[in-house]
Amino acid sequence: MNPYTITEKGKDISLQNGLNEQLCSDELVSIDRKELNETIRLQQGMIFKFKGVNGHFIHTLCDGELVYRLGLTPSHVVGKQLIDFLPEQITKRKLVFYERAWSGEDHVTYEEELNGIHYFTALRPVKRNGEVIEVIGSCMDITDRKNIEKALLESETKYRLIAENMTDLIILFDSQGKCIYASPSHETVLGYPPEYFLSQNTLHLIHPNDSSLIINGFEEVNKTKTPLRVEFRLLHAERGWKLFDCTASPVLDEDDEVKHIMVVAKDITEKRRAEEFLWKSEKLSLVGELAAGVAHEIRNPLTSIKGFIQLFQQGVRNEEYFDVVLSEFNRIEDIIKEFLSLAKPQEIQLHSVSIPSLLKEIYTLMKPEAYLKNVEIIIDSDRSIPLVRCDANQIKQVLLNLCKNSIEATDAYKKGVLKISAHLEDQNQLCIQVMDNGIGISEERLKRLGEPFYSNKEKGTGLGLMLCFRIIKEHRGTITFESIENQGTTVKIRLPV
Ligand SMILES: Nc1ncnc2c1ncn2[C@@H]1O[C@H](COP(=O)(O)OP(=O)(O)OP(=O)(O)O)[C@@H](O)[C@H]1O
Ligand SMILES: [Mg+2]
Repeated sequence: MNPYTITEKGKDISLQNGLNEQLCSDELVSIDRKELNETIRLQQGMIFKFKGVNGHFIHTLCDGELVYRLGLTPSHVVGKQLIDFLPEQITKRKLVFYERAWSGEDHVTYEEELNGIHYFTALRPVKRNGEVIEVIGSCMDITDRKNIEKALLESETKYRLIAENMTDLIILFDSQGKCIYASPSHETVLGYPPEYFLSQNTLHLIHPNDSSLIINGFEEVNKTKTPLRVEFRLLHAERGWKLFDCTASPVLDEDDEVKHIMVVAKDITEKRRAEEFLWKSEKLSLVGELAAGVAHEIRNPLTSIKGFIQLFQQGVRNEEYFDVVLSEFNRIEDIIKEFLSLAKPQEIQLHSVSIPSLLKEIYTLMKPEAYLKNVEIIIDSDRSIPLVRCDANQIKQVLLNLCKNSIEATDAYKKGVLKISAHLEDQNQLCIQVMDNGIGISEERLKRLGEPFYSNKEKGTGLGLMLCFRIIKEHRGTITFESIENQGTTVKIRLPV
């Protein structure tokens, strides 16, 4: 074999092989490139490249699904500067980041929005011999995340706005009673910054007479997992005790256990003061209205006493007359005593009260008024009624207001009858009824009873029933009205025994 040929041939073959390999790898490269381009195009984000040319940043590559979602195509970007395809505002912002990456900073990132799409971009400079030759940017669509963030922010802002601008106190405790949030209103309402409540136990701010109510209330909410409403006093930093109407609600976790207790408290100091003022003036007007009747009632025994004294002057002496005179004096004393007790201001005081005696006192007080208006009063109380814990003066006030309404409601054309009765409904409940045969109350007026200043009387203030509702509520009782127009009204007061 000719070695040359062989060599030549061999050379030839190897040349041929080399060529084949070259072709093969070119093809592979082209397939690879095609595949790479396809991959870049199909990926959900966006990849781009740029380089600095004569002081401008020119994009040399841009593809990916995100490009199209942004309302662009690669041809809008490749070979172009930012200003060629983006609004000036965005261009300005982006150039800052482009400059930083081009100057070699390694991890430049930014978020941007275009046509309603939010995206996140990371820029990476590619260096050769320590010099940046191009920058690769990769982008990711973050619209969904942004929308969630925005919704969260909006709802948080809304709630923060409510919490921070409310004049009520909002305070959150964990189930152990440690405060974890106090609204800014604590500062304006109580004079202490919210942090004061976070950093220490503030039980000392609760009025000593109310602290057990609060501690027990907290335990009750924890145990029963139901909201609780209480009134209690808190010490203002400078202005003494303030009265709050507060609702404590349990916040349950996934396992239905109390995780937090949220308390919303409203300062009702001024409101209560105004009510008390009204109450006092209402009381005084009641006293004023009853005065005429009382004076009249006192005149009767006085007339008979005068008569007896005149008899004594004439020398008539009969031991029995002394008894009559004494009992007339007692009667005057009773009337005056009851009358005065009405006008005296009193704190609510619970005592064991005999309801039959209370009704008797009502009779003494109302009889003169009833007599003047030609109304008959009938008292009917069950002897078996046990003592009831209540504030006798306040319950008396309620019954007087009701009796007064009944007498005022009597129809001029028939004799008025006012019946006050009391009986046990069951072992735990006493029912006191005030029944009249007056003009009655229409259905639509019935619904509004108890609203302040709701009166159809020329001289009425419309406060009587409001006070009745309040007193009965304070006694944890109920008050209901039944009425038929032109036939009469029955008021039922139910009190726990
Ligand atoms: N027994 C009743 N029969 C008919 N109407 C009644 C009766 N009780 C209450 N009302 C109606 O309810 C209204 C409100 O009563 P309320 O006692 O609150 O105020 P008032 O009697 O008008 O004024 P005051 O403040 O002097 O008591 C009355 O104006 C009256 O129209
Ligand atoms: Mg009234």
